[in-house]
Amino acid sequence: METFAIFVFIISLQSLMFNVYSSCLHQSSSENILEDSSSFPCDFLFGAASSAYQYEGAFLTEGKGLNNWDIFTHEYPGKIRDENNGDMAVDQYHRFMEDIQLMTSLGVNSYRFSISWSRVLPRGRFGSINYSGITYYNRLIDALLSRGIKPFVTLNHLDYPQELENRFQSWLSPEMQNDFVYLANICFKHFGDRVKHWTTLNEPNQQIILSHLKGTFPPSRCSLPYGNCSQGNSETEPFIAAHNAILAHAKAVHIYQTKYQEEQKGIIGIVVQTSWFEPISDSIADIEAAERAQAFYSNWILDPVIHGKYPKEMVNLLGSALPRFSRKEVENLKKSRLDFIGINHYTSYFIQDCLFSSCNTGDGASKVEGFALKLNRKGNVSIGELTDVPWQHIHPQGFQKMLNYLTDRYHNIPMFITENGFGDLQKPETTVNELLNDTKRIQYMSGYLDALKSAMRDGANVKGYFAWSLLDNFEWLYGYKLRFGLYHVDPITLKRTPKLSASWYQNYIGEHLRSRYH
Ligand code: BGC
Repeated sequence: METFAIFVFIISLQSLMFNVYSSCLHQSSSENILEDSSSFPCDFLFGAASSAYQYEGAFLTEGKGLNNWDIFTHEYPGKIRDENNGDMAVDQYHRFMEDIQLMTSLGVNSYRFSISWSRVLPRGRFGSINYSGITYYNRLIDALLSRGIKPFVTLNHLDYPQELENRFQSWLSPEMQNDFVYLANICFKHFGDRVKHWTTLNEPNQQIILSHLKGTFPPSRCSLPYGNCSQGNSETEPFIAAHNAILAHAKAVHIYQTKYQEEQKGIIGIVVQTSWFEPISDSIADIEAAERAQAFYSNWILDPVIHGKYPKEMVNLLGSALPRFSRKEVENLKKSRLDFIGINHYTSYFIQDCLFSSCNTGDGASKVEGFALKLNRKGNVSIGELTDVPWQHIHPQGFQKMLNYLTDRYHNIPMFITENGFGDLQKPETTVNELLNDTKRIQYMSGYLDALKSAMRDGANVKGYFAWSLLDNFEWLYGYKLRFGLYHVDPITLKRTPKLSASWYQNYIGEHLRSRYH
């Protein structure tokens, strides 16, 4: 009898192990995905993403300095839909243990967060390190690791010490490169023994379009007709700012690779915003316009950091408005080889040519955006399901096409999907129950994850997926009225409540990957 019991025990153990191990694929080669379409590689990261200004709050706590978003939201509350700001945000600074508990119940094996630059260096290079900031991130990193959750750290996600704006206009000056490297070095030194996934900048392309072309984000610089600002030049400054961001990124990568990587054994990349641009017709002009739209968006950053030069479409159209890399800079760009690229992806558009044909004015139609007009519709047909958020169109096929495009263009470079998610625009009549029963988000995520699997079957070398976002949070110009969270956050009590999408994602991760048992 006893022997029989032991036999049954061994068999059940084996079958448990078989179930666990069979739910993900041991070799990370995407070829295996062909054989088992339900699984991701065992080392695949399933995570949730956040950023410092949108989450931390504690805007003047324990030595943090003022940053560009503190100043912008305080000086111009009217620019934020609910006239709110990130002073408190979702108070992750004080509630990170509770949030890690939520991550544990979700089953994510990684958490993407960013460093608040002015918490670590309140005055950039011009003051001392705020060691309370270092302690905060050390505690966060240790707590994540103790739950088996890998920290995936972005050095900079839109916020920087206001002092850098006041002293030399931040990204408009090459000085900003030195400041960024200074921050990067401190972060590698203090956190790199435990952080194995680094990204330098979050979406410089999208950020700079908003801050220096349209002028809707701080420092609110632009010129007519691109936006309504008191200073700036939309035809030159975006390209200067991006040039400095690209070089700052390359210098940070260089420091990591020469000083830290061998010992710390981490990997480093950059995050760009991507959208799929579908030519509105089969005409050569529209096909070329869609390619120009890519050139003026994600390739603007990725081509230089990977190939050491700007896309030819930009060079041809912009001429001297596009800064040049010196020979030494080209060498440095090529030397600082990226380990991966981080892809943020939310939407797709139709693209219509405005270079050879006359066009209506609109997003993308100008020279500085590549003469490629972005449209939601072709006649009666929309690019995907349109939503309450003007820029978010549900078109998962565009995601698959985008990943295949990047795979081709950047020679099968490893990628992490660093953000993908769905925003619920809260109207006065929206109830909490409606926000909690977020079936649209589930439909969106499930479609985009299917598209991701298809792209991986096509050969895209994708190593992880981060949902944007863990919690509802401060959504920039939309304030707290546009909610991306898997967890609802009450605006008064900050209580976190799981939405339907949280249990859906938990099941999804459970079914597709059980790497936490390894
Ligand atoms: C940004 C996030 C933002 C999200 C949704 C991304 O472009 O990195 O900070 O919250 O889009 O708008």
